[in-house]
Amino acid sequence: MTSRPRVLVLGAGGFIGANLTERLLADDRYDVTAIDIDGEKLDGQLEHARLTFHRHDIRSRDDSLESLVKDHDLVVDLVAVANPSLYLTQPLDVFHLNFTENLRIVEHCVKHSKRIVQFSTCEVYGRTVAGVLGKDPAGMAFPFNEDTSPLIMGPVKNHRWIYACAKQLLERVLHAHGLEDGLNYTIIRPFNFIGPRIDYLPSERSGNPRVFSHFMNALLYGTPMRLVDGGKSFRAYTHIDDAVEGIARVIDNPGGVCDREIFNLGTPENEITIRGLAELMKLIFDEEFRRPGDPDPEIVDVPAEEFYGPGYEDCDRRIPDVSKARNLLGWESRHDLRSVVYHTMKYFVDRHRAG
Ligand code: NAD
Ligand code: UGA
Repeated sequence: MTSRPRVLVLGAGGFIGANLTERLLADDRYDVTAIDIDGEKLDGQLEHARLTFHRHDIRSRDDSLESLVKDHDLVVDLVAVANPSLYLTQPLDVFHLNFTENLRIVEHCVKHSKRIVQFSTCEVYGRTVAGVLGKDPAGMAFPFNEDTSPLIMGPVKNHRWIYACAKQLLERVLHAHGLEDGLNYTIIRPFNFIGPRIDYLPSERSGNPRVFSHFMNALLYGTPMRLVDGGKSFRAYTHIDDAVEGIARVIDNPGGVCDREIFNLGTPENEITIRGLAELMKLIFDEEFRRPGDPDPEIVDVPAEEFYGPGYEDCDRRIPDVSKARNLLGWESRHDLRSVVYHTMKYFVDRHRAG
């Protein structure tokens, strides 16, 4: 009997990691070792016979991480600070975790000849050409392509870009190790995945999470829906179930099609402005979830500096070109925008009402 491939998932306790771990365990082809400093989102999976969970900080300076890499067939690296408010308040922590600590993992993979699936971000594309030229990006759809689009960051004083720069530099180092050492890597650039087990609500825990949680908090607790700089930026949302299907295909790597490739995973059809997202969530809440006495939050504009502090600059529009994932992996999202938003809202509403 041949043994199953052993997958080491770093950051398995996070939003994508927990959903991915569940998906990998469900299809019975992998043994999974899950690493995170927080295992809460893995509740319900921890007893699974093919899962081993280690509560471990990848920054610790013992040999354990290298030994783990050595003992596995594939490394999936999701560890990062992935929350924009922290890019503003803790830019050095963002750099050190997202670049320096991740680089150590890459180097272990080089040393032990292991394949790595590295999570990057759609933020590496930065701003649109239209936005940079002072034109309205709404009038110019320009899908970002993995192998041809330029990566356009704002000035250094806008330190929001440290996240995207750290991720971009790691991508470039992976590429260089591929060239010089034959490292087999695949880079995934996610475009706004949402769904069950995404971030906390700010009325239940301190902090400044991603936008969906703020708007959900407004619907459940009556805080205002705040639109940063008027909510004119666009995002394209992907259901986490569609996302993990794409990630699973990258992990499977049929015929080596993902070797030394970068993949956008996203849903270009599910584009909406942030103002549109606020209005859609209010509509879906009224149609599907509203009970007597539930709050009816107001939608207000807030300047970016007031919301995030100094150093913010936004990605104005980011549309994924997903032709590579479609052609090489046969992957495509199934959930339309309403379905993605509905399912993510339902997760929060059910939790809230369960107490
Ligand atoms: P997340 O914050 O939910 O997950 C990150 C996980 O890393 C967390 O569980 C956290 O506890 C863990 N972690 C942090 N520091 C650690 C350490 N020192 N040692 C061990 N574990 C540590 O974020 P996510 O949304 O699941 O994103 C996962 C990856 O995908 C990140 O690399 C992120 O940059 C990237 N990404 C996500 C999205 C998205 O749509 N969610 C979009 C673009 C990029
Ligand atoms: C985030 C993170 O950078 C990464 O995790 C990841 O790379 C990316 O999501 C992704 O999921 O692809 P971003 O979409 O900018 O990036 O983060 P959000 O906090 O969800 O912000 C989206 C938009 O809503 C921004 O324009 C922001 O200014 C705005 N916003 C945010 C509001 O208008 N109101 C809020 O209350 C919060």
